[in-house]
Amino acid sequence: MSRRRVARLEDLPAGQPTLVETEGARVVLSRVNDDVFACSDECAHQGGPLSEGRLAGTRLTCPWHGWMYDLKSGTCLMPSRGGPVVTYPVTIEAGEVWIEVP
Ligand code: FES
Repeated sequence: MSRRRVARLEDLPAGQPTLVETEGARVVLSRVNDDVFACSDECAHQGGPLSEGRLAGTRLTCPWHGWMYDLKSGTCLMPSRGGPVVTYPVTIEAGEVWIEVP
């Protein structure tokens, strides 16, 4: 695991996913109030771009076929037997957003 600074909290629009790239990984940052959740940009279904999806609270919906993920856990909410999306631990320190990547 390595820790990477990926954004400033103030630069992340609330309610809208933001794509960043770090160490070759495409990571979606989703700001929900003053919390930030990080997941892979790659949908577990067929690799759709989750950064172009719709964010509602902590639920992110893939733009291609509508799979929905809970960003707190990466669990696929619908369909119920869909695979999870990869998530990354996030910390916020002095307004800077950090994630841990493998
Ligand atoms: S690729 Fe995301 S729902 Fe199909």
